[in-house]
Amino acid sequence: MRAAHITQYGDPAEAIEVVDVEIPEPGPNEVRIRVEAVALNHLDIFARVGHPEDDRSFPKRSGCDIAGVVDAVGTAADAEWLDRDVIVYPGVSCGECEYCMAGEQTMCHEYEIIGEDRPGGLAEYVIVPEWCLEAKPDTLDWETAAATPVTFTTAWRMIVVTGELRPAESALILGASGGVGNAALQIAERLGATVYATTSSEEKTAVVSEWADEVIDYTEIPHDDAVMELTDGRGVDLVADHVGQETWQDSIDSLAMGGQMVICGATSGPVPKIDIRSVYQHHRQIRGAPMGNRQDFRDVLSLVSREELVPQIDRVLTLEQIAEGHQALENREVIGKVVIRPYLNSEGIPF
Ligand SMILES: NC(=O)c1ccc[n+]([C@@H]2O[C@H](COP(=O)([O-])OP(=O)(O)OC[C@H]3O[C@@H](n4cnc5c(N)ncnc54)[C@H](OP(=O)(O)O)[C@@H]3O)[C@@H](O)[C@H]2O)c1
Ligand SMILES: [Zn+2]
Repeated sequence: MRAAHITQYGDPAEAIEVVDVEIPEPGPNEVRIRVEAVALNHLDIFARVGHPEDDRSFPKRSGCDIAGVVDAVGTAADAEWLDRDVIVYPGVSCGECEYCMAGEQTMCHEYEIIGEDRPGGLAEYVIVPEWCLEAKPDTLDWETAAATPVTFTTAWRMIVVTGELRPAESALILGASGGVGNAALQIAERLGATVYATTSSEEKTAVVSEWADEVIDYTEIPHDDAVMELTDGRGVDLVADHVGQETWQDSIDSLAMGGQMVICGATSGPVPKIDIRSVYQHHRQIRGAPMGNRQDFRDVLSLVSREELVPQIDRVLTLEQIAEGHQALENREVIGKVVIRPYLNSEGIPF
């Protein structure tokens, strides 16, 4: 089968290679999926450029957001899955510890991500545990199905589960044109909150305005200044920040008294320089919210299947065009998601 392997750290054109490898066989509790679509996340960039937690082994195959058809099942897996259209919850956990018992898979000490700790979906076939399967709602096309799991489940965790955002409250969503950011923006708007969003260009502003009450172009004004102007000096109840060290201080300074900053990422770096007085003197909180649990994923899927949340697809590419997708994501030229479709028709077009 064809598979996109990262063979070294570096620029996409040098670091990613489409190779021909054996079609893998599922273990007893696993299934094999014929991949119809797989979406890129910032995690794919980190796998290629070298994340501090990366195991530095090559080749590696990323691709956490997988949708496809089950084409083989392991000896202990339910044969009913055969030929069914599925979406994959990308987290794998032990199933036995106190956190798994509480349904909090991402708290498990053995938690692994398909596409980070295990070979991902950037290939014609992928092996996943049967437990990770969710039937694909018929209303979803393959691209939308693949664009849903990681970003929307993470954003749900940030805004709904951890942030507990309420309709009468206000929120500031950073990077609102990106994967997690756009999902968080849509969810906050859906809850009825007053929503401010940051982004960095006129084109992105135009798209993001569909869900935001006010869009802040932070290339023109620091986002804390803009928020304080827009809220008459009060600040917002919640900031969703996945950007990290570049934005932390301004995000904290955008909060109202007693407000909370919910975080899931550190795209610009993990070591912020902040004034801790700006946290405690204002009764503010900073709360971690990485990807949600399996139930969060189901909640998101039910809203996406009814088009109440709509993953934005920037472009659809072939496996061979994956370097273009990486580059665009890294250059911040993407609005929403890049989706890869591994199968080509006779004219070399993905289908
Ligand atoms: N912990 C978890 O479970 C989890 C799950 C999902 C994602 N994440 C993390 O969340 C972050 C976002 O992921 P994603 O997939 O949504 O990424 P993405 O699609 O690439 O979006 C990132 C957005 O951040 C904005 N941004 C602002 N400052 C930036 C900077 N200095 N460098 C790069 N982008 C900047 C960009 O928009 P503008 O240019 O308009 O500002 C861009 O749209 C990543 O750090 C990722 O690892 C964590
Ligand atoms: Zn566990």
